[in-house]
Amino acid sequence: KFVKSIIVPLITSVSMIAAVPLVSADTFKMALGDAAGGTQWELGQKFQTLLSEKTGGKTTVDLFPNGQLGNEQDTVNNASMGILDFSVLAINNVTPFSPSVGLLTMPYVILSPEEAKTLTQGKIGQQLVQNTINDAGVRIVGWAYSGFRVLTNSKRPIESLSDLKGLVIRVPRNEIMMSTYQAWGVNPTPMAWSETFTGLQLGVVDGQDNPYITIDAMKFNEVQKYVTNIRYIFSIEPLIISESVFQAQKPAMQAIILEAGKEATEHSYAFLLESEDKIKKSLVAKGMVISTPSNGEKEWIDVATKTVWPKFYDSIGGKVKLDEALATLGRTTN
Ligand code: MLT
Repeated sequence: KFVKSIIVPLITSVSMIAAVPLVSADTFKMALGDAAGGTQWELGQKFQTLLSEKTGGKTTVDLFPNGQLGNEQDTVNNASMGILDFSVLAINNVTPFSPSVGLLTMPYVILSPEEAKTLTQGKIGQQLVQNTINDAGVRIVGWAYSGFRVLTNSKRPIESLSDLKGLVIRVPRNEIMMSTYQAWGVNPTPMAWSETFTGLQLGVVDGQDNPYITIDAMKFNEVQKYVTNIRYIFSIEPLIISESVFQAQKPAMQAIILEAGKEATEHSYAFLLESEDKIKKSLVAKGMVISTPSNGEKEWIDVATKTVWPKFYDSIGGKVKLDEALATLGRTTN
């Protein structure tokens, strides 16, 4: 294990030298999948400022937004190999590397920003952090809270599942999300996040889902008109650090990284609460049309929870894990 931890980063670092310079002790690189201005950017910038403050200006974090350092799933690989320091990305793009975090993308489990905070910052969150280190070689040191993933499309207002039929919807390469759309009666198209704007612009896909703040940061209003206020997934976006980079830090620096991550997380939560509504209104002012699912979203919820939950019990560590999460939130699976 020791030899592997030395050799693998060394070989991969050498092979990637042209693309990503080796990390130095004082300057870190942070990949962001989204454009500047969204929740990933807020978390990253706050962390950058805090790390600089806490090290007396000795530590710099350079932010690379817009998928400049690779699509979100690639950044997990790169961080895992020790050739990228930090990345902020949607939790749904971590799940393929550490299936137990799929708990956070199970449809209709998290029903409010408070519940997102409770799950990520409590005992369950700590378990998921540990699982991600073990499975994927990356450590979650902070969380961005980005709001519910609402559905956008370029064709028509959607209120019911029958309105959805026939639309081509882009989803991340995430089994739980693909399965949810299949249960809702559409065959979704998996596509990397970095290709999504172009896919929508060229009409390769008609729609996608992401939070209001992300839609705004990515300027999706330029290529999408209709929004449906579904609340199936509350978007949580972890700040990850390569575990080998973390382990290479002195204990005092490790403590600073964890502390800065915690404080940046608090900032992210406050940013969501103060900006989501304003951003939603500005998207309407720019021409987006918002619909609300009929009948309190009942058919969407019933289909997703009855069909999708049981399919993923095994991958999240058993039904017991979902029961535990719901009990923490004061609910049950029945
Ligand atoms: C995705 O849809 O792939 C991600 O959730 C996008 C994001 O990171 O904002």
